[in-house]
Amino acid sequence: MCGIVGYVGDKNAQDFLVSGLKRLEYRGYDSAGVVTFDDDNRATLIKTKGKIADLEAKLMGNKREDKVGIGHTRWATHGEPSEVNAHPHQVGDIYLVHNGIIENYKELKATLEGKYEFKSETDSEVLAALVDSFYEGGRYPLTNAVVQALKLVQGTYGIAVMSDKNPGEIVVARAGSPLVIGVGHGETLIASDASALLGHTKQAIYLNDGEVATVTDKSVEIKTLNAEPVSAKVEEIETNLAAIQKDGYEHFLLKEIMEQPRSLKETLRGRIDLRDGMVRLGGPGLPEKELRKVKHLVIVGCGTAYNAGLLASYYIERFAPEVTVEVVVASEYRYRQAYIPKDSVALIVSQSGETADTLACLREIKKQGIKTIGIVNAIGSTIAREVDGGTYVHVGPEISVASTKAFTSQAIAMVMFGLTIAQAKGVRSGILRPYIEEIAKMPAEIQKVLEEVKGPVWEIARRYKDYDHAIYLGRDTAYPTAMEAALKLKEISYIDANAYAFGELKHGPLALVDDRFFEFAMLPTGELYEKAVSNVQEVLARGGHVIAVTNRADFDLGVESVVKITTSLKIFVPVLLNLVAQLFAYYVALEKGLDVDQPRNLAKSVTVE
Ligand code: M6R
Repeated sequence: MCGIVGYVGDKNAQDFLVSGLKRLEYRGYDSAGVVTFDDDNRATLIKTKGKIADLEAKLMGNKREDKVGIGHTRWATHGEPSEVNAHPHQVGDIYLVHNGIIENYKELKATLEGKYEFKSETDSEVLAALVDSFYEGGRYPLTNAVVQALKLVQGTYGIAVMSDKNPGEIVVARAGSPLVIGVGHGETLIASDASALLGHTKQAIYLNDGEVATVTDKSVEIKTLNAEPVSAKVEEIETNLAAIQKDGYEHFLLKEIMEQPRSLKETLRGRIDLRDGMVRLGGPGLPEKELRKVKHLVIVGCGTAYNAGLLASYYIERFAPEVTVEVVVASEYRYRQAYIPKDSVALIVSQSGETADTLACLREIKKQGIKTIGIVNAIGSTIAREVDGGTYVHVGPEISVASTKAFTSQAIAMVMFGLTIAQAKGVRSGILRPYIEEIAKMPAEIQKVLEEVKGPVWEIARRYKDYDHAIYLGRDTAYPTAMEAALKLKEISYIDANAYAFGELKHGPLALVDDRFFEFAMLPTGELYEKAVSNVQEVLARGGHVIAVTNRADFDLGVESVVKITTSLKIFVPVLLNLVAQLFAYYVALEKGLDVDQPRNLAKSVTVE
């Protein structure tokens, strides 16, 4: 979602602010702005609707040598995308950028209305005014004014605040929206995502909720809102520059699809013991005694993370005895008054580790005294820090808004967690070993499939790009996979795509089959294969335009298009079929000439409700 950057040091601030905002572009935004201050503390504030490239063009006419400033990319929540609603907001002496939502902004605005004339529709401008009201033209220290204001705020925020009366000082604070302070030589940098700092410094301080930092080129002073000093922990940023570059690919999405052999290998590294036929996960930190007692798993996530959870649940139910698995959509679950039995473990699934709804669920579940285990990618993210234990999926930065490599690794990481429960419960190795052996083989199998299908899938995508609707179909483990596949197509190609379990067709969706629709049938071999094939026949009998994706070499149903994959896997075939669906979605969007990595209206990390 929105992005924050800040700079104070001896170099050109505009340069860092713009390059930092570019790094945060992938998070999704619709307007951008920067403010910098010269040696006499005169501000230059430039904002624009649209892309960073538009901001850059505006800055060309306002090239500054200023050494301090803050910048922002905004993803509209309150008020349309426009220059006036873009950040930084300036009110009185205060310049402020804000990620998150101030829930009580209307009440706060009412108290400030006589004193300030508001130009925008945003909650953030109200916060700027509130800070200004406590600052009183520099009568009080900027940090104190920020703290006083934040004490009145309900909601979430990551903020960076400057004043033209406090040269060389930036005040930052967070509650529910990430902020990282990069510690350089003679410079301090600020970002809402560590990737913006790469190439400048590898040393970072991750601010915690309820903390406020006063930042200059040489110092970082952190306190809580209650004025208790906090000793800053400087950590090494684990990502490197190569990981956030396109590596010769036209889009991050294609790069991320193609790098799955490697990213899954990272997920598995050190966790699969083929000699003993065991999964060994250190991160969850649950002793065997506790794992044995687990009777119920709650898997919480949004979007792709939810789909990955659903897929994992089908597998876990097969081999973990007397364990029920419930997979829930975080935005719903947080408001349900669900009873969670005491012998439960909750898996909190999130690529970014910052998704607001998932985080809210985590906090609710913890209140009930239930053990929480994170299945997270972003190291040091809020969810990763708040869970009781966890398994990082280690797929490296996922930049494209559409999640691909994270899905594969999240699903497998959850299956591995299920396997550790089954191991602790004494399930026979004869039952678990085939899963473990297949998981170990998956990176190589993924590599093979990607190479095999890339060309043919592109060809097929060209033929289906102009359809308005798509129906994705699957049974058993191929059903959650079909859900994920449909999500991918809709979010990047804007084709209306929905997934159904094959068995549900006759209960309604079959009525949709006509020339405006194509049907994407996922047909892994297995117990229900023949039944799924019969369902495809029902679609064909009604004139359906079917694309079949299968590992059955002898598949021959006279459908419009077929993608056959070759694999020695038997259990995890749906994960391989999903690679076909990922490529298909990518090529459809590419052929339509769409913004593949940053689809309209979406953001990579959904930090607001
Ligand atoms: O960062 P998270 O895994 O918590 O994100 C959850 C969803 O927002 C995310 O998976 C979203 O559905 C993707 N855009 C799907 O490709």
